[in-house]
Amino acid sequence: MLIAQLTDLHLRPRGLPALRVVETATMVRRAVARVLALDPRPDAVVITGDIADTPDPREYELARDLLSPLPMPVYAVPGNHDSSEALRTAFADAAWAHQSAAGSLQFAVDVGPVRLVGLDTNVPDETHGFLGAERLDFARNALAAAPDRPTLMALHHPPIPSGMKDMDAIGLRDADALAALVRANPQVGLVVAGHVHRPYVAPFGGAVGIVAPSVCHQTVLNLSGRGKPLFAFEPPAFLLHAWSAETGFISHTIYVEDAAGPYDYSRASGVLWPD
Ligand SMILES: [Fe+2]
Ligand SMILES: [Fe+2]
Repeated sequence: MLIAQLTDLHLRPRGLPALRVVETATMVRRAVARVLALDPRPDAVVITGDIADTPDPREYELARDLLSPLPMPVYAVPGNHDSSEALRTAFADAAWAHQSAAGSLQFAVDVGPVRLVGLDTNVPDETHGFLGAERLDFARNALAAAPDRPTLMALHHPPIPSGMKDMDAIGLRDADALAALVRANPQVGLVVAGHVHRPYVAPFGGAVGIVAPSVCHQTVLNLSGRGKPLFAFEPPAFLLHAWSAETGFISHTIYVEDAAGPYDYSRASGVLWPD
């Protein structure tokens, strides 16, 4: 079972860059091509927010257009740059987009043996994230409905701190409540997020918390506590979460752009590897 996690697309109306210089439509097109080139292909794709940038309905139209080559189910949760209702409208043809109450876009679906729970941390007109009692109740019920299924939880705002002060100021404000829920549900193996535009990993509620890199621009690492947040064109990437009964969850990083190689280890080292 494979789930690709793409995050922080920041699409603008066709032809416009994000942040004046980030050609997000081109970068998303390349990321989709990389997903399609994976062998085996993922069983599903989950997008952890900031699909749109402003949000403008044309940005969601472009998102659906750019994602349309993907033959597997595509799920999405909103980020702070999204509108939960605009995102629901964009995916109105999908049953999962209609599981949650007005104002929130949440879902629980099964991808093979794995339960994928998407949570909405959007707070209208705010940059930080918050779940609140109603959204947490949805998550609690979704977990209670399948206590024995290995579960991957996906949301936009990281519930784990990065150590970067500007990013942590706009994280998930009620992460403690989510951690308690995850701790009470040991079937949750991974809690995956976006928002920071930079990958990192930390324990969370007895599970593994992972923040994915963006498929577009990345945030410059700054652990000094000084200066303004900066972005850079570090290599765009996405995560490929695998699960099997033998191994449990394993998360791989997939770079979008081609790298030099591949080269044959056995020719280069003189060590003979069987074909
Ligand atoms: Fe973002
Ligand atoms: Fe964000």
